[in-house]
Amino acid sequence: MSIIPKPAEIMEKETVFDIKKLSKASGDPSFKNEMEVFNIQCGEFIYSGPETLVCEKDSALKDESYELSIDPGRICVAAAGGAGIYYGLQTLRQLLLSCDKEIPCCKIKDYPRFSWRGYMLDCSRHFFTVPFIKKMIDALSLHRINKFHWHLCDDQGWRFPVKGWPALIEKGSRRETLNVPGREYGGFYTAEEIRDIVSFAAARHVEIIPEVDLPGHTSAVLASYPDLGCSGGPYRVEDRYGIFEDVLCAGNDRIFDFFAAVFDTLAGLFPSDWVHIGGDEVLYKRWSACPKCQKRLEEQKLSEARELQSWITHRLVQMLAERGKTAIGWDEILEDSKQFPLPENAVIMSWRGKEGGLEACRRGRKVIMSPNTEGCYIDYKHSEDPEEPGNIGISPLSSIYNMDPLCPEMKESEAALVMGGQANLWTELIPNGRLAEYMSFPRICALAEGLWTPKDKKNYEDFSSRLALHRLRLDRLDLLQYRRD
Ligand code: ACM
Ligand code: ZN
Repeated sequence: MSIIPKPAEIMEKETVFDIKKLSKASGDPSFKNEMEVFNIQCGEFIYSGPETLVCEKDSALKDESYELSIDPGRICVAAAGGAGIYYGLQTLRQLLLSCDKEIPCCKIKDYPRFSWRGYMLDCSRHFFTVPFIKKMIDALSLHRINKFHWHLCDDQGWRFPVKGWPALIEKGSRRETLNVPGREYGGFYTAEEIRDIVSFAAARHVEIIPEVDLPGHTSAVLASYPDLGCSGGPYRVEDRYGIFEDVLCAGNDRIFDFFAAVFDTLAGLFPSDWVHIGGDEVLYKRWSACPKCQKRLEEQKLSEARELQSWITHRLVQMLAERGKTAIGWDEILEDSKQFPLPENAVIMSWRGKEGGLEACRRGRKVIMSPNTEGCYIDYKHSEDPEEPGNIGISPLSSIYNMDPLCPEMKESEAALVMGGQANLWTELIPNGRLAEYMSFPRICALAEGLWTPKDKKNYEDFSSRLALHRLRLDRLDLLQYRRD
């Protein structure tokens, strides 16, 4: 059957279901959305005969879990809520995508190991079209990845409109790629496009978490509003890659007007409880030399420029809380100050290894593990082959498969704070969706199994053998994939 991620329990039967008998999904009206999405996804397999596919409510099952029973004349998916029904239907979709005439009868009981199963796409370094983003979200949901972390701005481009701050898209949404000078391509997502993507994703039980990276990685903001920087510029939307010295000026109160407008916009567009505030790779050189920043330092009784970041983080977390949102930040925000300790409710996304995550849960903060040291940076090359595309390091399939969000040294109470894990696709070297697919698959399949499947059921050899069949499903969905694992 080769389902990925591997379900918690599978009991295979001797019989088969003839796929010519598959009807549309029908059943409990509370699952109308899930059934409609399945009927679209699997339209090519559906015949207009008698009802054979039924979705039933079973309130005894846990959130996101499902039971799938396939018998010769009938398929039944049972769950307490829409997510479970959706996942049961995705398991069936996988079987349909890899079978010619019949699918094996079976009974599957399934549930996730972690609640945060994430994928990040950087749409600043390169811009990706709405159809591509939808294709990717649909493919993620086939693998039960349920969080799409949308990196919407960085030094190389700001990608959504903010009321009262028009230059962010007029100037900040750089309109050409580094690789193809002069080629115009889309610069930002309209509010309508964002709403469309959010609802497309919600229908597939994928939650979109927007990221606005602050206060560093903000060349696009500074080029749009130079007075937000320490020196006043000149600044430019970067077409180079790296970490830049110019960041938002911590001594300028206007940065908080900017944050308020941005967060109001995000709160209006994204129903998610979370907003990612970035916070990575902030250089402090400008703050050390800026009289306004030095004044702020004295005012707040801080001793070093670097501590200004903890003051900003504090304000950002509070401003989001006022809008009903919880902040997530990269692990750098753990480096706080006595005056401004990291707020209790801030979530840490650990990327420089798992150490940040370990420290965060020791300090009682929730954690998402996305270590670049253990395969979660899928902008890195698939292998050492010099002809392979990708950034700096190597993230082989086995490495992301074996990434465990928990650490042996965590106490039970600490492990309970680990929400799950995530793969990140930074796109400095990924100019289009086709290459993004190639970088993502099959590493996403491995990540999904690592975050969904019970630990004692995980086995890399077994995964590899199932992947052989699963690759046919990816082919059928026209997803490019690296094939030399
Ligand atoms: C990061 O990779 N700078 C979070
Ligand atoms: Zn300053």
